[in-house]
Amino acid sequence: MDFFKQVNREFLRRRAALKWGAWGPDVLSLSVADLDFPAPEFIKEGVRKALDEDRAPYASLHGDPDVLAAAAEKVRRVNGIPVGPEDVAMVPGTMFAIWAVTQYALRPGDEALICPSPVYPHFMKKVAGAGGAAVHHSLTLAPEGARLDLAGIEARITPRTRLIMLCNPHNPCGVVLTRPDLEALVDLAIRHNLVLFSDELYEDMIFEGTHLSPASFSDQAFETTLTVFGFSKAYGFPGFRIAYVVGHGPHIKAIRQKAYEILVHTDTLAQAAALAALTHGGAWLKDLRAHLVRMRDLGLERLRAMPGVWCPTPQASPFLFPNFSAYGKTSAEMYDYLLKEAKVVLETGSDFGPAGEGHLRINFATSPDVLTEALDRIESALAKLERRG
Ligand SMILES: Cc1ncc(COP(=O)(O)O)c(C=O)c1O
Repeated sequence: MDFFKQVNREFLRRRAALKWGAWGPDVLSLSVADLDFPAPEFIKEGVRKALDEDRAPYASLHGDPDVLAAAAEKVRRVNGIPVGPEDVAMVPGTMFAIWAVTQYALRPGDEALICPSPVYPHFMKKVAGAGGAAVHHSLTLAPEGARLDLAGIEARITPRTRLIMLCNPHNPCGVVLTRPDLEALVDLAIRHNLVLFSDELYEDMIFEGTHLSPASFSDQAFETTLTVFGFSKAYGFPGFRIAYVVGHGPHIKAIRQKAYEILVHTDTLAQAAALAALTHGGAWLKDLRAHLVRMRDLGLERLRAMPGVWCPTPQASPFLFPNFSAYGKTSAEMYDYLLKEAKVVLETGSDFGPAGEGHLRINFATSPDVLTEALDRIESALAKLERRG
């Protein structure tokens, strides 16, 4: 039996508290960005080994030496950024990195330029938490695809801008940014003396296109950029709370200091899982991508056959971001309607910023059976609605 078809919904309701456990037995959840598959065996082995070694005492402050070395080696080899262990900080999740970078770069009244928008809602929440304001540069979303046009972006920079926040590959639209676009963003950051924050959490979930890290473009690009990589998406262990930030001297020092002040250091068992992913992840990622591309295509075909629904093709990520505005409801109203009528829980597009209005996000990292049943239910629920135009 194909590993990626073994989705046990009863087990998920106990195992995945946030994605499945919050809902009744009749609800299908394609919401939170979790995989519905068990964590790979080699990850569990890594954690068991650390338990056997009794890695219980306080550990190195910014990351265990073997984990920092493995992370730096991967970043040099895969991402082409010339880093050593001293340029890496292990942190408890990608979300922590977003928080730490906004706290570091922003003071009350400052602005963060978010590009592209719509984006993971915690970008905006963490900017607000630091007393800053989010300025959006949006993708153009259309049935043919999502497109980034950087014309006019420089006019969004004001004397209060301190930070550019980039999510690539992109949640929720699955866009993979091109070298010219990334070079333009790096250039903008350098010329205006801004910190460039690059969230590359979905780097391992690319189906078409090539992942490029802006910090690899030049020494100056590296000195300007704080990059976060993680494990919570492609390796399916977000519960372990671990990610790693890569950056230059003063920038990375500040992030290390934040992590130290808040929690001394990142959990040692989570670091053991990270080490297993960094050193043994290749075959798993290949199989996962092959499954995800099948699920993306299944989802796209079904959605595009539904009257009034359009959906850009994602090049990456476990997400589809279909538009339902032909039904005359806001994203929030459509979310409520599908939860009530179809018993399917999705994510509300407008939570990702104003450009997400009219859309809902579907997480397709599940089995063909679960996705098909959810889409059947959505189709039946839509058939009960009037369409405009
Ligand atoms: C773009 C992006 N960044 C950060 C996060 C948070 O990840 P973590 O669980 O590693 O904190 C997510 C989670 O969905 C995400 O989509």
